[in-house]
Amino acid sequence: MQTKIIDGEMIASEIKEDLKKQVEDLKEKGLTPGLAVVLVGDNSASKVYVGNKKKACEYVGIKSFSYELPENTSEDSLLELIDTLNQDEKVHGILVQMPLPRHMDEQKVIKAIAPHKDVDGFHIENAGALLVGAPGFISCTPAGIIELLRRYEVVLEGKKCVVVGRSNIVGKPISLLLLRENATVTICHSKTTNLEEEIKQADVVVVAVGKAKFVKGHMLKEGAVVIDVGMNRDENGKLCGDVDFDSAQGIASLITPVPKGVGPMTIAMLMYNCVLAATH
Ligand code: GUN
Repeated sequence: MQTKIIDGEMIASEIKEDLKKQVEDLKEKGLTPGLAVVLVGDNSASKVYVGNKKKACEYVGIKSFSYELPENTSEDSLLELIDTLNQDEKVHGILVQMPLPRHMDEQKVIKAIAPHKDVDGFHIENAGALLVGAPGFISCTPAGIIELLRRYEVVLEGKKCVVVGRSNIVGKPISLLLLRENATVTICHSKTTNLEEEIKQADVVVVAVGKAKFVKGHMLKEGAVVIDVGMNRDENGKLCGDVDFDSAQGIASLITPVPKGVGPMTIAMLMYNCVLAATH
């Protein structure tokens, strides 16, 4: 079987191009979408992600307001900043980059963000809206995965989807989104006893475990669609996903590469959510 590589970068560019035009129109009407980007500490991966998000804002025409706080910032002062941003009319979206330093309670911080500015879709009000099928912000990585599948015309209805990973950011929300598309969804995690058997049955497998090359080609069903959310370094320090890309060749029908697969889509969907936040 010929394995087709999903071009996340191209799709993300198309989305950003559309948004750029929308933002130009909004600006003509006097509305400039604004995103506050908050980074606490000096996690090097987070710095790269935040830098890419700000670059995307600039491209699309969204005004970004950058807050880089030291590692030893108190939780109270972060909560105060969020409160100020909640009340700032120029700020339509608030993004607090995760993970936060260990002395902070992430859930408490996320809860402080006004739900209508929570462009990450992490607030319990938005997470709950997804659960019950009500309108709200959908977290960017899962939303990006669904958009990729839609644009590559992957039929999800009636398909068996296996999600490996159960995080609040990816595993749980992507499971709900696949369910919403009428797929049959199995969520696997570190305590799943028959993981390989589960993966072998999947028409679509989404892997978000944060372990380099964790899923090998021989574990996949012939023709499976493989979505790799991982971002790791291999033994040579090269970027790689949670799926062993080379061994999936010839077995998967479609696969996202790392980099240039899911990653650019996360940022494109963040831009989408910012425009939504500014216009609703
Ligand atoms: N850390 C890893 N992914 C994300 C994301 O999508 N948003 C935020 N805020 N932090 C993250």
